Amino acid sequence: MNDSNQPSPTTTAPPRLRFGMVGMGMIFDETYRPFFENAARDGLYDRRFGLCDIDLAAVATRTGRRAEQYRAAAPPDLKSFASFAGDDAIGQLLAEGADGKGIDRKGIDVACIATPDDRHFDIARAVLSAGRHVLIEKPSVLSLAQLDELTRLAEANRCIAKVVYHKLLDPDHKKLRTLVEDGLLSHCNNGYCSLLEPKSISAGQFAEWITGRNPGTYVAVHYIKLIDFTFGGRLKRVHCTGQRGLVGPADGPTWDSTQLRLVYAYHDGREAAFDIHTSWVTPDNFPGYVEQEVQFRFDNGVWNGHSRRRGVECTIEGHTPFDTKININNHYNGTFLEPDGTRSQRGYGVEVLEKFAREVAFVEFGGAKSEREERLSRVRSLAYNDLSADRQTVAAVQAIEAILAKHAAGTSDCVVHVNNRHGGLVLYAPGSSVAEVLYAGQV
Ligand SMILES: NC(=O)c1ccc[n+]([C@@H]2O[C@H](COP(=O)([O-])OP(=O)(O)OC[C@H]3O[C@@H](n4cnc5c(N)ncnc54)[C@H](O)[C@@H]3O)[C@@H](O)[C@H]2O)c1
Repeated sequence: MNDSNQPSPTTTAPPRLRFGMVGMGMIFDETYRPFFENAARDGLYDRRFGLCDIDLAAVATRTGRRAEQYRAAAPPDLKSFASFAGDDAIGQLLAEGADGKGIDRKGIDVACIATPDDRHFDIARAVLSAGRHVLIEKPSVLSLAQLDELTRLAEANRCIAKVVYHKLLDPDHKKLRTLVEDGLLSHCNNGYCSLLEPKSISAGQFAEWITGRNPGTYVAVHYIKLIDFTFGGRLKRVHCTGQRGLVGPADGPTWDSTQLRLVYAYHDGREAAFDIHTSWVTPDNFPGYVEQEVQFRFDNGVWNGHSRRRGVECTIEGHTPFDTKININNHYNGTFLEPDGTRSQRGYGVEVLEKFAREVAFVEFGGAKSEREERLSRVRSLAYNDLSADRQTVAAVQAIEAILAKHAAGTSDCVVHVNNRHGGLVLYAPGSSVAEVLYAGQV
């Protein structure tokens, strides 16, 4: 008797993973769409599980419009997904049965969540409660209580719960981490990161959900994770301030730009400080378009990275910088004519999704069913993307949200301490010794 999930020599159909997509906005278009199209064309092959088919089985969006737009443009193999919209879209996505047009569906095995960040938690909770694997766009969730609930559900239902931080797969950041891990760069003392998004993002694309939001939670989180994952250390304090008046009223809860400072402590007792500046109101014709810069200072070196100095600057009359970018990041998600004449779209933004699909396929099809638990533990121990390893990043996000909310309510310059005698996340207002506990457990 063979209890393996791998296809036996007499089985012809490869195993199949049915994906559900929640949210089909900008990030769907840039990374998920090419991932599904590449996988539909080529399948997913890995020595550990052989060939696996990847289906975009169903999608859930707010109105259904983006889903139908994509269906019209999609390659023939990808046109048949079920589409759900409205208040019960997630419930229907997770249900098995008829799709509303009388077609029997088998439901989904995995859901990818790419909705605005304050809607991730409820959807992920529904997915994990239904026993499906989940992949969540950054930031995973906005509080440690939410993170605790999702990791509890993943554990109870033996599911994979992961978050996408594609900058960890950027070759430049992989090189940085390699130099740190190999001891060539030693002991990062401090550094800065800046990420500037154009106005068109806050004024156009995100206008539907931007009220009450800030660009720090949205994009500083890339660098929070990079620092956390690359340099290690324990998060100790979080400061944050910002500016208002362009995206929303100058005294309202919606932020144009933010300046965040994180203080970490290493095992040897030395501290490190990192400043992360973000904006989503940079002029649209700014040549950097999405301008990214980092500098990290070590005991024995300095690492400088700048998106505009990475390599390419290209001007095309009538196109740049509007429909074509001047500084093209060909590493993230480029469209290419390959030397063999084929067209491709690839880069680390797509690679990170393929890695996740491989992790799920490995758990489900990478050997005997009786050894699934062992495979699941291996996949869940991957700190680059597992929700259980996202604690310090979510702690920083929760602190940003709390500090900016206090600021909007009239008390600026609060600071959040991590793991002190009052609790895991503790907020102090200037001049006050009253500890406001945001999270009681250890971070
Ligand atoms: N990894 C990255 O670099 C990166 C880049 C951009 C965005 N993101 C993340 O992806 C997520 C989405 O960002 P975006 O830029 O694609 O946003 P977007 O505004 O372009 O698209 C959001 C999508 O979510 C859908 N949606 C909204 N509420 C929903 C709900 N309750 N149920 C189902 N669908 C719903 C909308 O219909 C839309 O299709 C955010 O978490 C963001 O932080 C990540």
